[in-house]
Amino acid sequence: MTTDTTTKDTPVTTTPGNPVLEARGVTMRFGGLTAVRGVDLTVNSGEIVGLIGPNGAGKTTFFNCLTGLYVPTEGEVRYQGQVLPPKSFKVTAAGVARTFQNIRLFANMTVLENVLVGRHTRTKEGFWSAVLRGPGFHRAEAASKARAMELLEFVGLAHKAEHLSRNLPYGEQRKLEIARALASEPGLLLLDEPTAGMNPQETRATEELVFAIRDMGIAVLVIEHDMRFIFNLCDRVAVLVQGEKLIEGDSATVQGDERVVAAYLGEPFEGAPGDEEVAEVESAEAAHEQADAAPAEAEPVDAAPADAAPTDAAPTDAPTETPADTPAEATTDAAPGKENDR
Ligand SMILES: Nc1ncnc2c1ncn2[C@@H]1O[C@H](COP(=O)(O)OP(=O)(O)OP(=O)(O)O)[C@@H](O)[C@H]1O
Ligand SMILES: [Mg+2]
Repeated sequence: MTTDTTTKDTPVTTTPGNPVLEARGVTMRFGGLTAVRGVDLTVNSGEIVGLIGPNGAGKTTFFNCLTGLYVPTEGEVRYQGQVLPPKSFKVTAAGVARTFQNIRLFANMTVLENVLVGRHTRTKEGFWSAVLRGPGFHRAEAASKARAMELLEFVGLAHKAEHLSRNLPYGEQRKLEIARALASEPGLLLLDEPTAGMNPQETRATEELVFAIRDMGIAVLVIEHDMRFIFNLCDRVAVLVQGEKLIEGDSATVQGDERVVAAYLGEPFEGAPGDEEVAEVESAEAAHEQADAAPAEAEPVDAAPADAAPTDAAPTDAPTETPADTPAEATTDAAPGKENDR
């Protein structure tokens, strides 16, 4: 990394309890499919808010609407009172950072270089500065590197700074993504399934990491399927089912809501938006059981889930943090893929 350098401005500071993120009536339609329907969500400074819901509920799509990857069909998203521009790099520059359900690191860059990439919205050194490489450039580069190392220390990866990111175990790649997101000095961090694929120890450590991020003054909105993680961590939890917000409240309220239980455990609940989906899942499971019981000479069944193949190793639009001159195919996609997880 030779171009991105120096701190342009200080991290966003927020008054505790004030709204950091305000999403109002966010709707996202893809042709005939409404993936997100009229969702309102507020995240206040000092808060960790959870977003849960069954597969396909619209959680990642909602994140994409918040971060400028999708322009919502309807609705408005404000950060610190200002409407966010529908461009991901501008959203990052405004102070909203994210990680991806599919890990999106630069596989052939070192761990440190990946974090330096995340700093580019907070640096002011331009093309000529990089070409001329005067004393200002070198000072700036050193400052940026020092901050990146600080962040690696924070997530516990400083000792691997010079390793290629593709050689990190899966759990460490997720931590590196968090360090890279933090490198843009956000006021709000969005985490899309940060513990997917982690063992219980790694999940516990990630919980501590998220608390520490909150304690740094960064509000957090987190998507996760691990309910223990969510209910330990979050001040408030919102539940999406088939694109609609079913309920929002503290852990006890959400855990005690029978519609939430139904949405996760497959118990039918009359009138809940998840009803049809639950029925579909049940019939799919029944079909699987029948297939399992089939005789040995039957056609081999592809055991991989439909979304297990990395579908976007070479995304058409570069990741949020990616500078325009970095080839998109340099990203790695270690996690199971989702076509909308950009
Ligand atoms: N770009 C797109 N084009 C068409 N349909 C899309 C697109 N992105 C998402 N969808 C659809 O929107 C719905 C919501 O998907 P989304 O990935 O947001 O769900 P999710 O809640 O994140 O699920 P998971 O828990 O499995 O990650 C799904 O039916 C999905 O197929
Ligand atoms: Mg998702």
